[in-house]
Amino acid sequence: MCAPGAYLYYSRTGSDVMAVAGQRVGVFSMYASGTGHDEAFPIIIETFYNETWHKRYSEYMLSTTLTTLWSVSVAIFSVGGIFGSFSVGLFLNRFGRRNSMLIVNVLAFIAAALMGFSKLAESWEMLIIGRFIVGLYSGLSTGFVCTNVGEIAPTSLRGALGTLHQLGIVTGILLAQKSWGPLQCGPSYLALLSSQTRRPKPRLVMLKKLRGTDDVDADMQEMRDESRQMMREKKVTIPELFRSSLYRQPIFIAIMLQLSQQFSGINAVFYFSTGIFEKAGVSEPVYATIGAGVVNTAFTVVSLFIVERAGRRSLHLIGLMGMAVSSVLMTIAMALLDQVKWMSYVSIVAIFSFVAFFEIGPGPIPWFIVAELFSQGPRPSAIAVAGFSNWFANFLVGMSFQYVEELTGPYVFIIFTILLLIFFVFTYFKVPETKGRTFEEISASFRSGADKYTQDDLNTLGADSQL
Ligand code: GLC
Repeated sequence: MCAPGAYLYYSRTGSDVMAVAGQRVGVFSMYASGTGHDEAFPIIIETFYNETWHKRYSEYMLSTTLTTLWSVSVAIFSVGGIFGSFSVGLFLNRFGRRNSMLIVNVLAFIAAALMGFSKLAESWEMLIIGRFIVGLYSGLSTGFVCTNVGEIAPTSLRGALGTLHQLGIVTGILLAQKSWGPLQCGPSYLALLSSQTRRPKPRLVMLKKLRGTDDVDADMQEMRDESRQMMREKKVTIPELFRSSLYRQPIFIAIMLQLSQQFSGINAVFYFSTGIFEKAGVSEPVYATIGAGVVNTAFTVVSLFIVERAGRRSLHLIGLMGMAVSSVLMTIAMALLDQVKWMSYVSIVAIFSFVAFFEIGPGPIPWFIVAELFSQGPRPSAIAVAGFSNWFANFLVGMSFQYVEELTGPYVFIIFTILLLIFFVFTYFKVPETKGRTFEEISASFRSGADKYTQDDLNTLGADSQL
């Protein structure tokens, strides 16, 4: 029970630095394995449902009941994600960064036990509840990881370290494609072990170790400033986030970036890739699906290395445009398949490039940029709203793609092309570059952009602000 890709990261909470283990690979191997990434998964689960039903009621399930139960099993994961992500702020504000990350691991164990023993207990209900709980866990820990990684990273590496979160996710997907889902809760176990056996060291010592240099004066100063800012800044609730003119613009940007990630159509490819490859006339769709997982991981690594040089905004723009062009290519290939046989190769290239462009920008950037757009006070609520938007959009795509595809046939990806172009224009005009800027500089740029403040806005910002 151990995930090879689990990575360690550190959490800085304004006044403290400590080591915490990450669990992203575990989360997303569960995520991926239950949503169609694993070829054999639907058949195994449907057989299990049918046999259990037969033992209980001495008859086999109607195929409509089976389809419904399978759809519920898939969708319930994102429903858990929706609830989990929305509660991120509650946890962070109440238990703090480190404790929240520890507590949430309990959910991973409960989910693993429910799902692991469902066969023994001959209960498909346990499997579905387990998937809901692992969804909760994923929604919560996605928010915790983004907050922590954003806060511990030095300004010059915030994008690269933020991309590690996505690297955890894509590694999980790749593992799940090869049916290595049981490796799931290993990282949670690691997280608990590493944080229990270690006493937090003085922050200066930890910081030097973390940065690999003794020259940490500038970092210490930024932490002091942020900590001072945090003492002054009130915690901002979700309704306040929308009411205050200070936060309206960044929260709108954060939501749109999440939507640009999910409505790009990436999960339509991942959840239904084998079917898509089959329709595109690929003779070994399983290998093409695994190929997509490999491209997905490889290009996340590419993004990791270029994000600090190229910047978030430009990579997001390149990614969206590249995906739009790839989806046009994919549509042409699918539409001409009956007349031109080699179009199946074109469709593979188009899907691979669609995935590659996704990981250049729209995959990793929306996850970590939210923490960059907000200072400490509103950050937990902002991460919760952004996470909620992401999981809700994910749920919508997962639920509706197959129905829309039935209606539109090979032209289904044109819908994503249009959406991608809309998000491109939005990013071009509205999304600021956050590369190399401190949190304070970024939030100050929104403050100067806000038309006018009310005294309420200034009260939210800090006790000593005056109109
Ligand atoms: C991002 C998305 C997730 C998707 C994955 C694909 O993490 O949030 O929904 O499955 O990328 O790599």
